[in-house]
Amino acid sequence: MNDQAEKLRLLAKSLQEKIHKQIFSPPTPCRVITVTSGKGGVGKTNLALALSLAFAMQKYRVILMDADMGLANVDVILGIVPKHNLSHVIRGEKTIRDIIHEGPGGLKIIPSASGVEELANLDATLLTKLLDEIAVLERSFDYLIIDTGAGISRQVMAFILAAEDILLVTTPDPTALADAYGLIKVFKKHHGKGRLRLIVNMVRSEQEGREVAQRLAKVVSQFLKFEIDVAGYIPSDRAVEEAVRRNQSFITAFPRAPASLNVIKIASSLGDFTPPESPHGMQGFIKQIISFLQGRGSVREGRMDLDGRRA
Ligand SMILES: Nc1ncnc2c1ncn2[C@@H]1O[C@H](COP(=O)(O)OP(=O)(O)O)[C@@H](O)[C@H]1O
Ligand SMILES: [Mg+2]
Repeated sequence: MNDQAEKLRLLAKSLQEKIHKQIFSPPTPCRVITVTSGKGGVGKTNLALALSLAFAMQKYRVILMDADMGLANVDVILGIVPKHNLSHVIRGEKTIRDIIHEGPGGLKIIPSASGVEELANLDATLLTKLLDEIAVLERSFDYLIIDTGAGISRQVMAFILAAEDILLVTTPDPTALADAYGLIKVFKKHHGKGRLRLIVNMVRSEQEGREVAQRLAKVVSQFLKFEIDVAGYIPSDRAVEEAVRRNQSFITAFPRAPASLNVIKIASSLGDFTPPESPHGMQGFIKQIISFLQGRGSVREGRMDLDGRRA
């Protein structure tokens, strides 16, 4: 009897220690993944959304930011019409929590972030407020996934150079490959420190994906002296368009479709990746973007002189 009481006491103690550890240990910083491309229309938005949902399915807490200024992509795919976006936060009219949209599968969405350029003109009070809000948000998420616009505009480069993980999406199409090459060139020129990995979308076979990736990797290695890793391939799949017609992501509408299975594979391989030694999380990421857009300081020790016009 006494023995059992002792066992219970020990159990309660270990439980208490576990809870204490969870509450007081420093939180793991949120991992930031930027999804980008040189050319438009290569499948960034569909991938960013599917990838976010794949992480959410694995019970990670995920927030997806639509950072394509021109086209409010994520909204369109899911058929949502958010009233507010980041520009309301920047103007001090809303908090970040106010603008977060509830997506499917527990996914949270920061709607089309028009106004990101306005970050450059924030006054100190609003900037501090914004960073405080982000620090609070940071504790609530494991992944921040960013869907950028295509190309090498100043704003897109800010998102690429500030991220620890960048997924560069291309298709086997020669112009998409040429634009992917162009983006890597700018990334290299600005001493991008993030881990840039390639995804070849809309391939007819894995074989084609592999060949395309090898071709690009070879040119990049030869002319830019840059080694690029491959994160995976996604087949051309009618499920993608069909899901959009239903205002869904293919990964939820057709979880067994080839495109979905490949995205799950990519998500698991990204999840395995050991985080950088000093991950800077969501707050560090936003600080980098602001410092980049304000045109002062460096992007992670690299020199930063990109002004968009010369890029
Ligand atoms: N793996 C795929 N198979 C078939 N169609 C795809 C695939 N990925 C994307 N698409 C289609 O390509 C178009 C562009 O996709 P989108 O995600 O909007 O690209 P981006 O964000 O790069 O502009 C959409 O019509 C989408 O349905
Ligand atoms: Mg898009």
